Amino acid sequence: MTSPATAQAPLIRLEEVTKVYPGRGRQSSPVTAVDGVSLEVMPGEIQAIVGYSGAGKSTLVRLINALEPATSGSITVDGTEVVGLSERQLRHLRLRIGMIFQQFNLFDSRTVWGNLAYPLHVAGVPKSEHQQRISELLHFVGLPDKAHVYPGHLSGGQKQRVGIARALATNPTLLLADEATSALDPETTGEVLELLNRVNAEFGTTIVVITHEMEVVRELADKVAVMEAGRIVESGPVFEVFSKPVQPVTRRFVGTVVDDLPPGPVLEALRARHTGRFVTLAFHDPEVRQSDVYAVLARHGVGFELIYGGIEEIQGVTFGNLTLALVGADDAVEQALADVRGLVPVTDLDRLEED
Ligand SMILES: Nc1ncnc2c1ncn2[C@@H]1O[C@H](COP(=O)(O)OP(=O)(O)OP(=O)(O)O)[C@@H](O)[C@H]1O
Ligand SMILES: [Mg+2]
Repeated sequence: MTSPATAQAPLIRLEEVTKVYPGRGRQSSPVTAVDGVSLEVMPGEIQAIVGYSGAGKSTLVRLINALEPATSGSITVDGTEVVGLSERQLRHLRLRIGMIFQQFNLFDSRTVWGNLAYPLHVAGVPKSEHQQRISELLHFVGLPDKAHVYPGHLSGGQKQRVGIARALATNPTLLLADEATSALDPETTGEVLELLNRVNAEFGTTIVVITHEMEVVRELADKVAVMEAGRIVESGPVFEVFSKPVQPVTRRFVGTVVDDLPPGPVLEALRARHTGRFVTLAFHDPEVRQSDVYAVLARHGVGFELIYGGIEEIQGVTFGNLTLALVGADDAVEQALADVRGLVPVTDLDRLEED
C-alpha cells in the first residue's frame, strides 16, 4: 500500500436542513417538520432514523429524494446538490434512489412482472432486457415463480419483497425505506430485514431506514439518528447509542429492546421467588465476557442465579444488562462484588432500595 488512504465522501450530506410547511388552514400556523438537521451517511452504510410519530422522519426522506423542496439548507446525494435541480435532473437523480414503503405501493392492476417492468421502462431499459432483469430480481428476493401473480394474491411479506425488487430494478446506490416492516408480523419482518441486509452486503447499497421499531435498528443498522420535533437529538453507531443513550427519548426507545433494571413490580415478584443479594451487571464493553464475571464469583465461592435481563448481540458485540441473585457469606459476596466492579458497572438493587 503506497497510496495514502483517501477520505471517502459521504453518499448523503445534509447541512442545516429545514422544512417548514405553511399552515393548513387560515387559523393554523406554519409547521417546522424538519429543523436544522445535519447528517452524513457514508457509502455502504445502513443508517436508521427513529422517532415517534410526527418527529419529521418521512419529511426528511422526502427531502433526500427531492419529492419536496427544502426550505433552507443543503442536501447532497451521491455528489449532487439536490436543492435547486430541474425536474429533468431530479428524474435522473431518482434513478439512483430506490424507495420502499409501509403499504408497499404496488400497482394492484398489474402483475408482479408489470410492477417490475415499470421502473425499467421509466429508466429506458430496452424491452428485450426486461425478461432477464426481472427474472434476476425475482430470484434475488426469493419469488421466482410469482411473475404472473397479481399483488392481491400475495402475502404482506411477499408484497414487500416485490417492493424491494422494484426498488432495486435500476441498481440504485441508495435505498430509502420508510417504515418498510411496520405492517408485517415479527417473523415476516425478520425475513425482510434479512433481505435488506443481503441487498447491502451483495450490492453495497447504502440504506436509510426509517422506523419506530428498535428491533429493526438492532437487526439492520450500523448507525442510528434519533429525531424529536424535527431535530436530530442524538446519533451515532448503534452500539454506542444502545449502550449509552443520553436523551430521554433515546432511553425510551432503547428500553424497548434492552431490559435495564427490573421495574418495581417485577423486582417484588423476583424477591418472592429468589433469595440472595440482587445486583444488575451492565455488559457494554466488548472486551468483557459473562464468563469472566462468573469466574470471579466462583473464585470467591459465591453462587448465583440469573434472574432477569438478557444479553443481546449488536453488531457482533455482546451487550446487555443481567440481574443476578448472589448467594454466599456476606463478606465473600462483598469481596466478589469489589472484584466484579473492576470488570463491569454494577447496580446494587438492595442498596438502591435503601436510598
Ligand atoms: N404536507 C404537509 N403539510 C403540512 N404539514 C405536514 C405535511 N407533511 C407533514 N407535516 C407535518 O410535519 C410534521 C412531521 O411529519 P412527518 O410525516 O415527517 O413525521 P413522521 O416522523 O414521519 O411521523 P410518522 O411516524 O407518523 O410517520 C408533522 O407535524 C406533520 O403534521
Ligand atoms: Mg412517517
